Amino acid sequence: MPDVTLTTLQGLKQRGEKIAMLTCYDATFAKTASEAGVEMLLIGDSLGMVLQGHDSTLPVTVAEMAYHTACVKRGNRGAMIVADLPFMANATTEQTLNNSAVLMQAGAHMIKLEGAAWLAEAISLLAERGIPVCAHLGLTPQAVNLFGGYKVQGRQDAQAQKMLDDAKALEQAGAAMLLLECVPSELAARITQAVAIPVIGIGAGSATDGQVLVLHDMLGLSLTGRSPKFVKNFMQEHGDVASAIAGYVQAVKAAEFPAAEHGFSA
Ligand code: KIV
Ligand code: NA
Repeated sequence: MPDVTLTTLQGLKQRGEKIAMLTCYDATFAKTASEAGVEMLLIGDSLGMVLQGHDSTLPVTVAEMAYHTACVKRGNRGAMIVADLPFMANATTEQTLNNSAVLMQAGAHMIKLEGAAWLAEAISLLAERGIPVCAHLGLTPQAVNLFGGYKVQGRQDAQAQKMLDDAKALEQAGAAMLLLECVPSELAARITQAVAIPVIGIGAGSATDGQVLVLHDMLGLSLTGRSPKFVKNFMQEHGDVASAIAGYVQAVKAAEFPAAEHGFSA
């Protein structure tokens, strides 16, 4: 068990203290980030883009996710490790259970999956079997082809209401955490109010219980040369990687990051 547990995170939410999460894919960064105070390390399937150079997360396999999860586990110093189920690894409930087992055995403490209320059954089965789940709502990059691009989600009233309903349904089903990506700040605030479980945001404003960024983005590294509006480069004001990560943790805790300019309006 890591030093940071679900109980720690629930306590942070109750006390109104922000949770700092970063993506992480290897042992050295896991050591650096966990020692800098990052509470949750996410082995995101974003590794398909930032490590492998693909133009989406779709090519990533469960075996690759397990490999990077095992690498992070070796360097981790007490953070909670969350691993993404990659594209179609949650296509059926049986696949969801089996693939989650692979990632938990590789070193994850929590599984994250993309979807909506249709995940309810799988989430309750995982919870019954002792696996905490984070449900990823809003812009779910595995659905980029359906969305027609990486676009802010939940801007129309009906979409916003559905996301709120999905969030409640997934909490009811036993989700331990929610992650909101690229949703209007005001909607993210409503969802965070509506559920008792911690809500982490990326491009979702400052009202969520915590924040996550892709490690490479916040270190100012980019393959494409483009950086999303919700990203801040923490290397600019900090001279080295460890200080940049510590600066990110501090900015999240102080509610200085994200600023209004990093969020989206409805
Ligand atoms: O894969 C990933 O890095 C993610 C975060 C952007 C939330 O899912
Ligand atoms: Na992901």
